[in-house]
Amino acid sequence: MSDLAHTLDAVRRGMIPANIYNDSEIFSLETERLFSRTWTFVAHESEIPQVGDYVVRRVLQDSFIVSRDQSGGINAMFNMCLHRGMQVCRAEQGNASHFRCPYHGWSYRNDGRIVGLPFHKEAYGGEEGFNKKGQRLVPAPALDTYNGLIFISLDDNAPPLREFLGDFAFYLDYYTKQSPSGIELRGPQKWRINANWKIGAENFAGDMYHTPQTHTSVVEIGLFREPKAEKRKDGNTYWAGRGGGTTYKLPPGDLEERLRYVGYPDEMIERMKQTWSAEQLDVIGRDGFMISAASLFPNMSFVHNWPRVEDSDDVLPFISLRQWVPISENETEVLSWFAVDAEAPQRFKDLSYKAYLMCFGSSGMFEQDDVENWVSLTTTAGGTMASRLLLNSRMGMHTDDSPVVAPLTSEEFAGPGVAHVGYGEYNQRHLLREWADHLEREPERPAPTEMGLAK
Ligand code: FES
Ligand code: FE
Repeated sequence: MSDLAHTLDAVRRGMIPANIYNDSEIFSLETERLFSRTWTFVAHESEIPQVGDYVVRRVLQDSFIVSRDQSGGINAMFNMCLHRGMQVCRAEQGNASHFRCPYHGWSYRNDGRIVGLPFHKEAYGGEEGFNKKGQRLVPAPALDTYNGLIFISLDDNAPPLREFLGDFAFYLDYYTKQSPSGIELRGPQKWRINANWKIGAENFAGDMYHTPQTHTSVVEIGLFREPKAEKRKDGNTYWAGRGGGTTYKLPPGDLEERLRYVGYPDEMIERMKQTWSAEQLDVIGRDGFMISAASLFPNMSFVHNWPRVEDSDDVLPFISLRQWVPISENETEVLSWFAVDAEAPQRFKDLSYKAYLMCFGSSGMFEQDDVENWVSLTTTAGGTMASRLLLNSRMGMHTDDSPVVAPLTSEEFAGPGVAHVGYGEYNQRHLLREWADHLEREPERPAPTEMGLAK
């Protein structure tokens, strides 16, 4: 077996070659076989509400301008000038009807169509020599949205987004659609960490086990109403479609009492009841599980948490979306957004934002605790000894086919997918199996086309 085949085989058995967290060859494969074809989140529609609004986001080193054009349509355009390849837009966000390349001045509309070349006649012989019609910045090969989340894929044969998400869409609604208006975002805050991108994605997907240890201080300073370990132990992990997450077990009560328990005001609860399906409401009201952190393969994560606010006994929920943008095998750019129901009362929005900053903003307490572990892990994973070590990611498995606890039945948990109560690395294994499936497949290498020619 080749080294890669060994690695993928071990990963599928829940034994992780430690060097996958800091290896340049693995990173090349991820670039070539994973990020070149998967769907990747780039922005939310609420970040570009007005005509002309844009943000610049990356899929690894490929930069895209995500814009709202004059007709209100959403575009994701490869941010590379058709002339000599300069990055056309250098700002991170703004509002513009046109983009002018800083190198020689070619200009483009905010839907990508080229409109002007300096000295068109003298340099190219005018329209006869260079016909501008049909020339445009190269669009992302695939673009689609779900609840206002804009995803792109570099593969024009990518499956439809909804198919890619699968049953994880059921859980996405808790974070991104608490009312018919959906969410609005603040941010992103951006920072870089010297850690491999997979570690954060795995942690948010299912690592309930680290909370009592890594985040002891968060409990000690009273950020939470009660010690969290118990709620964690009785919560569950679920995996559905391309994503999975964790829940807390709530105290007895009906739907309204449970949503109030985590701090939602009655008017928001009313809208949730109108927006979510009977099964989505049953997960909380009937089964008593409250959605917490989650990850969507490959590199998007979600948080839903409810810390104490200020000195009171009240708690307040917040939602955060984040993306682990790989820079290299040992560096990740973290993009972290605060998300809130667009119809929430203003006071709720303001306090919820504070709660987010306190926990998961760039200086948030959870953030600091977590990252110290991940940087340390990544550094050690780059060494010689790590290349000989298989890490144990088999929590919750007796044998390859038999879990320590049986999956929850549909009477116990109304959500789709497979769910298990208690500690287990089910989701981390799901995530890395998905990763292994991608790394195994040779990529198609589309022939270069003449940039900018209309199809
Ligand atoms: Fe953009 Fe020349 S590289 S105008
Ligand atoms: Fe953590």
